[in-house]
Amino acid sequence: MYSKDHWEKVYSSKPTNAVSWFQPHADYSLGLIKAAGVGLDAAIIDVGGGASTLVDDLLANGFTNVTVLDLSSTALAAARKRLGCRAAEVQWIEADINKADLPASQYDVWHDRAVFHFLTTPEERAAYVKTVFRSVKPGGHVIVATFAEDGPAQCSGLPVMRYRPDELHAEFGEAFQLLDHRKEEHHTPSGTVQQFVYCFCRRVGS
Ligand SMILES: C[S@@+](CC[C@H](N)C(=O)[O-])C[C@H]1O[C@@H](n2cnc3c(N)ncnc32)[C@H](O)[C@@H]1O
Repeated sequence: MYSKDHWEKVYSSKPTNAVSWFQPHADYSLGLIKAAGVGLDAAIIDVGGGASTLVDDLLANGFTNVTVLDLSSTALAAARKRLGCRAAEVQWIEADINKADLPASQYDVWHDRAVFHFLTTPEERAAYVKTVFRSVKPGGHVIVATFAEDGPAQCSGLPVMRYRPDELHAEFGEAFQLLDHRKEEHHTPSGTVQQFVYCFCRRVGS
């Protein structure tokens, strides 16, 4: 599927603003997190956040309870270095999301851009969804972005699943209400275009 070695190598061999998934600002993600209507103290986790600039923009917007989880210590170190002293305001978790022991009913917002699509077997996807269901508070929001049906077949040289919005939502099932979905035309640093789909869901429950 994926391996820690792969990701450590990727982040050690390129500047973080040169990887294909780099965004100067994760505007779609930030917009959907704001659309969740949560308070500034909401518990937000960016799963597979890597060295994404989303955490910078969450802090800049006043969010005070942000966690970034990633398999790669190199990616997390790069994000911490970029943030400087503000890095201390963030909880950093180095873990494989399908092995991480996250607390139950912990998060108000779960965000994942370009991680779920690496889960190519039904077993991996079911384990991931089980973790989301367990760790997100009832009524909490889930934002998952993957390559769209017309997106690339590989990401970072690894095979990925591509989804239409209804297919992506179906992976999560009825325990998650689909509130919105969007497509994003992502322009990579090398100038190619990748189609992403974002699903914005609410974990059913009060
Ligand atoms: C394509 S990058 C996307 C990074 C970030 N979400 C963004 O949009 O900029 C995929 C990220 O997921 C991380 N990753 C891959 N598999 C993972 C797993 N099983 N658990 C946690 N992180 C994972 C990688 O280290 C990498 O940082």
